[in-house]
Amino acid sequence: MLDASRRWRHEGKSIGLVPTMGALHAGHLSLVDAARRENDVVVASAFVNPIQFGPGEDFERYPRDPDHDAALFARAEVDAVYRPSTQAMYPSGASTRVHVSGVSEPLEGEARPGHFEGVATVVTKLFAAVEPDRAYFGQKDAQQAAVVKRLVSDLDLPVEIRIVPTVREPDGLALSSRNVYLTPDERRGAVALSSGLRAAAEAYAAGERRHNVLRAALLSRLDAEPLAQVEYAEIVDPETFLAPGRLAVLAVRFGKTRLIDNHDLGKAFPG
Ligand code: PAJ
Repeated sequence: MLDASRRWRHEGKSIGLVPTMGALHAGHLSLVDAARRENDVVVASAFVNPIQFGPGEDFERYPRDPDHDAALFARAEVDAVYRPSTQAMYPSGASTRVHVSGVSEPLEGEARPGHFEGVATVVTKLFAAVEPDRAYFGQKDAQQAAVVKRLVSDLDLPVEIRIVPTVREPDGLALSSRNVYLTPDERRGAVALSSGLRAAAEAYAAGERRHNVLRAALLSRLDAEPLAQVEYAEIVDPETFLAPGRLAVLAVRFGKTRLIDNHDLGKAFPG
C-alpha cells in the first residue's frame, strides 16, 4: 500500500483516504464521492478492526461481503482498496495503543470502554500505510470524527480531516451497516431517533434554548416507542462532547442492535 501511495505522491498526485469496515452503503459512498472531488487518487480501506469491538459486541457477526464491497468501490471509481489481514495489522507482539483522552471519554467512550482507543490506533496505522493528504469521516459518527481530529492535531499528523454529512433513508433513519440487524418492527420504530432530532431542531429554530426542554423534545418520540431502550440522549458541545451545547446525540438499543445518531440543532433537519 505504502509503495503505491508513494508512487502516486512522486507523480505529484494528491491522495484521499476513506477508512471503512466494509459492509458498504450509500453513506460510505458519499465519503468516496467527496474524496473523488478533492483528490487525484482515492484509496478506501475495508478492515473490520477487532480491537475497537468490546467483549459481547458484534465483531463476529459484523456483516462482511468483500465481493459486494469491491464492486461498489469499483463503481465509485476508487483507485485502490486496502484490505489488510488482521495478522498484518496486529501481528503477535503488537502492544501499542493510541489513547486520546478528554473527548473520547463521555457518551460513546463511557458506553464502549476501549472503543475509541481501538479506533485511534487503527486510524493511525491506516494513515501510516496510506500517507493521505486528506481523510474522510462521516458526521454520523460525530464523536469518532472529533476523536480523530484531536488525534491528528495532537500528534501533528500531516493529514487534513474532512467531515461529510450524514446520509439518511427517506424516513430519516441514518444509514448504518448495523441497520440490517433490525427486525421489521424495530426498523419501523427506529425512525424515532431521527424524528426526535428533527423535533429538537424545530424547537431550537423556534427560539427554544432551555437544555431540559430541548432534551425533552429529543426524547419525545423515543419515549413513545416501546421497542426503543435509550442509552443516552444529550445535547453537547461538538468539541468536548460535554453538556451543554448544540449537538444533539443519541444512542438507542432495539433488541440486540445499538443505533447512534446526531444533529447540530443550529441547522435545519434535512428532508
Ligand atoms: P464504518 O462504520 O464502516 O464507517 C466508515 C465511515 O463511514 C465512518 O467515517 C462513518 O462515520 C461513515 N458513515 C457511516 N454511516 C454514514 C452515513 N449514514 N452517512 C455518512 N457517513 C457515514 O467508522 C468506522 O467504520 C470505523 O470506526 C473506522 C473509522 C473505519 C475505523 O475502524
